[in-house]
Amino acid sequence: MRPLHEPVYITVAFAQYGEAGKSDRGFDLKYSREENPTVRVLERNLSALEGGREALAFNSGMAAIGCLYLSQLSAGDEVVLPMEAYGTTVQLAEELEKFGVSVKLAYPSAESIVEAIGGGTSLVLLETVTNPTLKVIDVPEVVKRAREVGARVVVDNTFSPLVFRPLKAGADAVVHSLTKYIAGHNDVLGGAVILGDLDVSGLWHWRRRLGSIIQPVEAWLVWRGMKTLELRFERQSRSALAIAEFLSEHPKVKNVHYPGLRDDPHHETARRLFERDLYGGVVSFEHAGGKSGALSFLRSLRRIFPSPSLGGVESIASYPAKSAAKVMPPERRRLLGITDGLIRLSVGLEDEDELIEDLDRALGGGGD
Ligand SMILES: Cc1ncc(COP(=O)(O)O)c(C=O)c1O
Repeated sequence: MRPLHEPVYITVAFAQYGEAGKSDRGFDLKYSREENPTVRVLERNLSALEGGREALAFNSGMAAIGCLYLSQLSAGDEVVLPMEAYGTTVQLAEELEKFGVSVKLAYPSAESIVEAIGGGTSLVLLETVTNPTLKVIDVPEVVKRAREVGARVVVDNTFSPLVFRPLKAGADAVVHSLTKYIAGHNDVLGGAVILGDLDVSGLWHWRRRLGSIIQPVEAWLVWRGMKTLELRFERQSRSALAIAEFLSEHPKVKNVHYPGLRDDPHHETARRLFERDLYGGVVSFEHAGGKSGALSFLRSLRRIFPSPSLGGVESIASYPAKSAAKVMPPERRRLLGITDGLIRLSVGLEDEDELIEDLDRALGGGGD
């Protein structure tokens, strides 16, 4: 007998008769804060997705990044981050400064990040596609420089699962917010670190200390979502391209960011790095009416939810000036192009024409 779906092991502990049992990777299987067979199913699938040696799943993307920092950084170490990395990732790194870690923020381009990496750098944390202005970072260029100084490179690949494989490009580990495309249904939080050459024991230690392992039901939900990742990502990418093309022509839109557009400044880098001609479901654009235009657009949406998050089956529109970029100093926002008119869309699985209709109406282009 072989079930189509793995069972969910909803148990705190495992009975011990003498020696502790072992999980499939050889760690003691005795307590679910440490190891759980349902979590292992998810982790094996995540390793296969990214071509890693090992994976650890956490109860959110931030729990994964927090444990990564704790396992990789000590007092005196320097971490380099692009200044457009996810806000909480940057803030958490900066909060580690009180423990003696130093943080260097670089403009999100390979040239600036390479320039920021010095002899004292021990960790570089990149995001393949930046958020919200969707710049594509030439990861192999950064890896080359990091190797020269002996720094480790970790890539947050949340925006580009399937199409980009950071471990193949030389990174030491990959991070995902599973909450986004991988789980994909806007109903579960999770995070993961998938390891290439990095040793699993440091991360495993911190996950167990902090109790930040993903719970079995959530692990099962993420794994179930993963089964349709490819179908969802393909459809979301195709609809996003159609929407980006529609927006590019719209009189109320000043500017569109989408690496799938041929004339986007990051298209060539994305084409070179990505294994498939798919660029994800996130598109951002600048409303020609600035702040008041953007806020009125968000209020007028009917099909698309004005909300944070991305990568799920429901389409979402968010306002970076009040969410991701809220904590950024104004000069950094200006440098990155995060204006008060900027809207970020995450395209879901709804009918493409219905989404375009909703956008057109909310932009004041027609309808009732
Ligand atoms: C690129 C990226 N990394 C990490 C995170 C944090 O993930 P979570 O919300 O699952 O903690 C996010 C959240 O939006 C994100 O966009």
